[in-house]
Amino acid sequence: MAQGIFITFEGIEGSGKSTQVKILAEKLQKDGFKTITTFEPGDTEFGRKIREILLSTSLTINPLSELLLYFADRIQHVSEKINPYISEGFIVISDRFTDSTLAYQGYGRGISLELINNLNKFLLDEFKPKITILLDLPVEQGLARNRNINKNDKFEFEDISFHNKVREGFLKLAALEPERFIIVDATKTFEEIASEIYENIKERLKNL
Ligand code: TYD
Repeated sequence: MAQGIFITFEGIEGSGKSTQVKILAEKLQKDGFKTITTFEPGDTEFGRKIREILLSTSLTINPLSELLLYFADRIQHVSEKINPYISEGFIVISDRFTDSTLAYQGYGRGISLELINNLNKFLLDEFKPKITILLDLPVEQGLARNRNINKNDKFEFEDISFHNKVREGFLKLAALEPERFIIVDATKTFEEIASEIYENIKERLKNL
């Protein structure tokens, strides 16, 4: 592959994305692909500072300020990390991207989807992943998993109805672009999920 490709993982809290990102990257590396993993928010030096603000539980942030910080992080992420690796022929796998903004700030917080899509158009030239894996599971199960590992970030404090809106949001986004999304049932065992993702990605890579 002369030009690399961009793959993202999306899902609610506790959907197991970070584990699956690692497993997929290792499998693709074994197949000989140059692969790099990344995440949002906060996988650049500037982004780490933004992440601290975004996920702080002691700050009250206006939803629009929050939205713009996610975009500030993403612009830096795309220009400093994602684009350079794609140009070098890497498969870049990101734990979260713009679909998270549409799901959390749009469907969850109620910010206009049109505004978010317009920001994406003007600020990022509608840069989109080639493939997005949506790990879907009931909100209660995801939150329970995170409680088990004592993960108590900002969004873990939102109520169930917020998380249900986010989950439904992701499913609507996937329904709008079935050719980009692969929806995986994240209630299965992590081995089953990993092999389902790998098989799907191999199939898609053949056709690229
Ligand atoms: P993180 O600790 O990385 O959680 P997770 O393992 O669930 O990805 O925290 C990221 C949080 O940021 C997560 O709760 C979702 C939220 N988020 C948004 O609200 N909008 C966005 O655009 C992104 C990228 C993340």
